[in-house]
Amino acid sequence: MCGIIGYVGNQDASKIILEGLRTLEYRGYDSAGIAVLGDAGIEIRKDEGRIEEIDKKVKFGKMGGNLGIGHTRWATHGVPSKANAHPHSDCKGEIALIHNGVIENYRKLKEELLKKGHKFTSETDSEVIAHLIEEEKGKTFEERFLSALQKLEGSFAILAIAKGEKKIYGARRSSPMIIGAGKEEMFIASDIPAMLKHTKEFKVVEEGEMVVLGKGECRIIGIDNGKERTRKSFTVNWSAQSAKKDGYKHFMLKEINEQPKCVRDALASDVSSAAKLVASSDDLQMVACGSSYHSALVFKHLVQAECGKKCEVCIASEYAYSSVVGKNTCIIAISQSGETADTMSAVRFAKKKGARVIGITNVISSSLAREADECVSLNAGPEISVVATKTFMAQLAVLYKLAYEIGGKKDMIEKLKDVSHSIELALTKQGEIEKLAESLLQKQSFFYIGRGLFYPIALEGALKLKEITYLHAEGFAGGELKHGPLSLIEKGVPVIALAPNDETVHKMIGSIKECKARGAHVISISDSQEVKKESDECVMVDGVDASLFPFISICVLQLLAYYMAAKKELDPDKPRNLAKSVTVE
Ligand code: AGP
Repeated sequence: MCGIIGYVGNQDASKIILEGLRTLEYRGYDSAGIAVLGDAGIEIRKDEGRIEEIDKKVKFGKMGGNLGIGHTRWATHGVPSKANAHPHSDCKGEIALIHNGVIENYRKLKEELLKKGHKFTSETDSEVIAHLIEEEKGKTFEERFLSALQKLEGSFAILAIAKGEKKIYGARRSSPMIIGAGKEEMFIASDIPAMLKHTKEFKVVEEGEMVVLGKGECRIIGIDNGKERTRKSFTVNWSAQSAKKDGYKHFMLKEINEQPKCVRDALASDVSSAAKLVASSDDLQMVACGSSYHSALVFKHLVQAECGKKCEVCIASEYAYSSVVGKNTCIIAISQSGETADTMSAVRFAKKKGARVIGITNVISSSLAREADECVSLNAGPEISVVATKTFMAQLAVLYKLAYEIGGKKDMIEKLKDVSHSIELALTKQGEIEKLAESLLQKQSFFYIGRGLFYPIALEGALKLKEITYLHAEGFAGGELKHGPLSLIEKGVPVIALAPNDETVHKMIGSIKECKARGAHVISISDSQEVKKESDECVMVDGVDASLFPFISICVLQLLAYYMAAKKELDPDKPRNLAKSVTVE
């Protein structure tokens, strides 16, 4: 949700920032801009649209400078437009500022600043911060910056530069920000991949901290008291190459094809401490959003049906409204980014009431990883496409392992070694799935059905399709159809049935028949000849243990969504209105 990057050093700042913005574009892509500090002062270039389109017009890479900041926007306050694009300035054009987050008290601050004669050029909440710094009294820019921060309510990751100051000033509250340390140069960005080409050494900016970065300078300061803090650095083993497309047309397709390796790496994660924490509590709850919520539903099924442990799952943004939580509660929070504001709010709410938290995330430097009592890493490497594919698969792998560990099912953990082979089998069906996608291009509405473990997989399959094709898609529990949704089925409507040869198969055949009787075009994903016979089309993947079929089914559904989007010439990596990491509530 907005990507920010800053650079100070001896190299060409505009080139480094432009390259970083391209990597960060998955966080927001409705407008972008760069500000650099030159001898004559600050220069800003910005516009509405995708980075490549804007770059053609304004030539970002030719701005030069050795110090600058850049922003790629996902609009919250104000439509996508050149005026609302970041960086924003003060009245004199001596400050340039970029912001990710939402300033909740911006109206009040703006009214006060307007009364004092400040002129605003955008509808954003962010511009207020630049004018607020301008208005602050203080001997140094650092003092004015700190004092302005102390007046802000809401969430922010802010970077600012000022005329005559060879430094970048940054601050963070509830929006991610990581420092990349180089030799005689400093980087700062929303995410690690934007800096990977230049450094492998990072420092986390914690909640409520301000930073001052110069060529050989990196100071971290508490916003509340202005006191300096020390911070250890950490290194990552992600390669810069892992954030590249490697010959694939889209990141999404690359990431789907990486899944066999991802599950192997995810299964290498140690879940024993997390399992002990769950065992020591008699109230297990889970919070997550979107795809991560769907993986939580899969875990709930496994841990309840196979291990007899009761588990509640709640959409994170709904958690505070109805939860019963206390000292005996163990919360499992799942988030690939580890920064989702709704999930972090639920985690903080539960912690305040005394709950213990297990975080499952792909980003070990994230807020979730740092605030949880126990953290399990997904080990999936950077996921660049906005839609979750390989991180969802890695979540399934880790959650299966955790559920079996809780249930003491060593034999089932052993079976998980076959997961990557099962996904490889599903990937051999790409040609067939591409043809299937071609045949469905004219359809407007899709229904996904499954029972048991396959109900959440149906929800995830429908989410993938709607996210990247903008078509109507809904997932249902197979048994629920007759309680209402069946009225939507008419001639030719595609129904995608997840019908493995397990204990759900006969009832799923019943659901398929109900749909066919109303004229639906049923496409099943199965390993059962009987299901194949009852369906109009069937993606058959057999020879795999029934317990691993969810991995196969979701891989097929990801590919189906991908090929439909690609054939419609839509960009599956950057679906409209969405952002990778949703850092506003
Ligand atoms: C997945 O394709 C989505 N883009 C979205 O639903 C995502 O899963 C959700 O926003 C949660 O993100 P998180 O896992 O980073 O918390």
